[in-house]
Amino acid sequence: MANLDFRFDEITEQYSKRELEAFREFASTTTLPERVSVEIGSNRGRFLTALSQDRPDHFHLGIEIRHKWVKQSKKSIEKLHIDNADVICGDANLALPIVFDDGQIDDIYILYPDPWWKARHHKRRLIQPKFLDLLHTKMKPEGRVIIRTDVGPLADAMREELTFHPHFFPLDPQDYDFNALPLSTRERSSIEQDIPLNLVYFQHS
Ligand SMILES: C[S@@+](CC[C@H](N)C(=O)[O-])C[C@H]1O[C@@H](n2cnc3c(N)ncnc32)[C@H](O)[C@@H]1O
Repeated sequence: MANLDFRFDEITEQYSKRELEAFREFASTTTLPERVSVEIGSNRGRFLTALSQDRPDHFHLGIEIRHKWVKQSKKSIEKLHIDNADVICGDANLALPIVFDDGQIDDIYILYPDPWWKARHHKRRLIQPKFLDLLHTKMKPEGRVIIRTDVGPLADAMREELTFHPHFFPLDPQDYDFNALPLSTRERSSIEQDIPLNLVYFQHS
């Protein structure tokens, strides 16, 4: 069972009660299948829908903080008659503890996360020690963390955090055909502009 008892005052007040209730509602009305992948920051759903079609053996859940992208993704999912994907709206930091059982998630995809360039904003970056502790709790052993970014210093910082964490280790690219993954919206435009891609692939243990 997902954590429906999760109380709003257990975490910071930066989240709205509406967000909390939406995640609770999703958790109480949805039974996720055995194999679940999560995309954080799924934006307009381009990668999510393509991956769902390529990997019918998994259920793919997008977590996207901006409502308009969630609406658009849901429309695409419906239009393409995809029955192994969905999107929920809100902050992944709040969604993960409520929506998922411990050890439930197979793979996590984070494509082109916001870089938060200014040093004083680095604390807003997604990959932080506390967030990795959360992933450790919610992921299956041997689940994969697949991150791509066109921001070199951000890739270095994320690699450093993941390497420092005792439950993640670098994934051997030979163990997985990463080229077979679909392109996200941002990745497409980055390739068109010849911006070098940084791959940050780790495995959970
Ligand atoms: C730079 S965009 C990349 C979008 C998409 N992944 C791609 O590669 O085209 C980052 C996305 O992450 C979303 N986002 C940022 N922080 C988030 C969070 N804490 N939880 C969920 N979504 C988040 C943003 O709204 C945005 O859609």
